[in-house]
Amino acid sequence: MSERTKIKEILNSSKTDYQATVKGWVRTFRNNQFLALNDGSTVKTLQVVVDRESTDENILKNITTGAAITATGKVVESQGRGQSVELVADSVIINGVSDPDKYPLQPKRHSLEFLREIAHLRFRTNTFSSVFRVRHSVAFAIHEFFHKRGFVYIHSPIITCSDAEGAGEMFQVTTLDMDQLPNQEDGKVDYKKDFFGKSAKLTVSGQLQAELGALALSEVYTFGPTFRAENSNTSRHLAEFWMIEPEVAFADLDDNMDLAEDMLKYVIQYCLDNNKEDLEFLEQRLLNEEKQKPQNERSDLALIEKLKFCVSNDFERLTYTEAIKILMNSKPNKKKKFQFVIEEWGADLQSEHERYLVEKHFKKPVILTDYPKDIKAFYMRMNEDGKTVRAMDILFPGIGEIVGGSQREERLDILMERMEEFDIPHEEMDWFLDTRRFGTCEHAGYGLGFERLVQFISGMNNIRDVIPFPRFPGNAEF
Ligand code: 4AD
Ligand code: MG
Repeated sequence: MSERTKIKEILNSSKTDYQATVKGWVRTFRNNQFLALNDGSTVKTLQVVVDRESTDENILKNITTGAAITATGKVVESQGRGQSVELVADSVIINGVSDPDKYPLQPKRHSLEFLREIAHLRFRTNTFSSVFRVRHSVAFAIHEFFHKRGFVYIHSPIITCSDAEGAGEMFQVTTLDMDQLPNQEDGKVDYKKDFFGKSAKLTVSGQLQAELGALALSEVYTFGPTFRAENSNTSRHLAEFWMIEPEVAFADLDDNMDLAEDMLKYVIQYCLDNNKEDLEFLEQRLLNEEKQKPQNERSDLALIEKLKFCVSNDFERLTYTEAIKILMNSKPNKKKKFQFVIEEWGADLQSEHERYLVEKHFKKPVILTDYPKDIKAFYMRMNEDGKTVRAMDILFPGIGEIVGGSQREERLDILMERMEEFDIPHEEMDWFLDTRRFGTCEHAGYGLGFERLVQFISGMNNIRDVIPFPRFPGNAEF
């Protein structure tokens, strides 16, 4: 078998006059002679020059958009414009034909909505191959960042019986026959007869398990799928998304903010260094898309400039209370332009408020801390004021909340009181309380929404376009 050379390697090298074999999918074929080949290693295509005199008629006929082929020949300096090197083929093999009349991807611009319907083929477009190469880099850089700092990667369970966020947005996991549920005398389902002997769910967060790990290994992180049965049909929500949750012992909220800011900057810089061509392509894509929008809805900075800005500036840090003052005094609040007008301290922040702070007021990423206890989860550390908790949310331009985290309540008595306020029975979480009984310590962590970060870095507007096969209400195709 001949050795295969990736197209990226050929295009990124100035070497010429050597034999190579390339394999990939045909994008276009002009004049029965010039074939644009893409193999997914780069957004760019390699021009393969086919000798139409000596090549079999049957092969020529089957070099169509979408076909898989193998070409062997000499890499030479290109005579034509638009590329520096090309491959002059001695042989072309058709690995898999593609009927041009039926292949859904034509060599033209398709809408993102249409491509979402054919998500099984959208990997083959420039936009999606770039997005998924960036997604890979983001994942790799996250592991690298934590690995370099001595964190241990923990695999938290996907099936669980505890609602970590207490928001009641869990998908149920069961092997019971839905048409014939075993009922108890009171009419309720008898989960003792279910697979796990009780009602089980898909996890909404690996945090509670990460805390258990941190209180022994000191620094851990999870990176796994999480599930939320919230009926949110927005461009920022998925029913199945990936979350990264670091958890650090002997750390407070300031350490937590520093860690999150360092991590975000590290990952963005990694993509700037390693995905230049993809980001240039995605930047151009975004510029074209925004041309159709009115001036005031376009981004202030082009994609790469925005990423560089984010890496080289400190995030703005302020408390919820300070943010509420800014929002109450803001024009859109006074003129009732917000859909949810902020009337008083204690109001939950909606995405319109978060985006106002980030995009209009500070014009940079913002970290908000010390939220009212009533709008945050039970596990966050209570402040001296008895009204606020040591929470932090990181807000990004164009995205809103990208990270949510907190310093944890490490004091057993206060944690138990908080659980009572949230109607969480102590027995159900006894294992969690044990960490507070035996060797408890100050600790903190956060959750990063992986797809939201990929959205930010790739400049894609809809979260459904940065995960291969999005799950959202009414959709679990592919
Ligand atoms: O703010 P959340 O709900 O926090 C937690 O789950 C904590 N247990 C994290 C922790 O402290 N370890 O979710 C964390 C992040 C959000 O900031 C957001 O970026 C993302 O997860 N996220 C979603 N992303 C896509 N679709 C959804 N439905 C999301 N819900 C949250
Ligand atoms: Mg949150």
